[in-house]
Amino acid sequence: MKLIIKQTNQEASEAAAQIITDQIQQKPNSNFGLATGSTMIPVYQLLVENHVDFSQSVTFNLDEYIGVEPTDEESFHYYMRHHFLDKLTHPPRQMHVPRGMGDEEANVLQYLQLLLIHPVDLQLLGIGSNAHIGFNEPGCDFNQGVHIERLSQSTLDANKKDLGKMVPSKAITMGIADIMRAKSILILATGEHKAQAIAAMFEGPVTNKAPASILQRHPNVTVIIDQAAASKLQRAQ
Ligand code: GLP
Repeated sequence: MKLIIKQTNQEASEAAAQIITDQIQQKPNSNFGLATGSTMIPVYQLLVENHVDFSQSVTFNLDEYIGVEPTDEESFHYYMRHHFLDKLTHPPRQMHVPRGMGDEEANVLQYLQLLLIHPVDLQLLGIGSNAHIGFNEPGCDFNQGVHIERLSQSTLDANKKDLGKMVPSKAITMGIADIMRAKSILILATGEHKAQAIAAMFEGPVTNKAPASILQRHPNVTVIIDQAAASKLQRAQ
């Protein structure tokens, strides 16, 4: 894994936006795997401000809450439209977000097939403070593809700020097997509350207790963090 430590959150977001922009320049028709969460908001904002041309690309989001309508403000569908799609000068050709409403099994199968047909060139990832990626929680099966995951209490507590009165207990998520198929992965984490998860991902053993640790086995991962998120790394001291 390639590690880039920036002084501030803003500089880390700029570095991440630059890697996405470089990917578009090298391959305008790239397939992007996209993530939600507050960490990504400044990255999407920079891509919007810089009028990056996504018009030949297709995007695939990691996950969505179960039982949340795409039009609900708490949904990842809404997040993506609000922070990215509706604001871009040159939006992607297609934007896919897994469906959180309707037949769960059919939705899982449909998304899995979509990902198998369209290999992801660059997968953008955030990380939960319990080291989850997508919604693959501690204890997850590394061999699983798209599936329905029961959300941990710590994840629900961490995401409470964005959930209002909603208390979803499950999510549909890309599995670790889907994430590991991406040709390249960019993981961004900022803030001290992510420092433990970053240390576990980077320096801990590969274990499903810290799902992000599996990324040590991927051949092309770039990790961008700020000083605060780097504060528990041995090698950064
Ligand atoms: C959610 C998403 C993850 C994201 C994580 C961190 O649980 N499913 O993909 O990485 O939150 O979010 P934040 O950036 O808000 O800390």
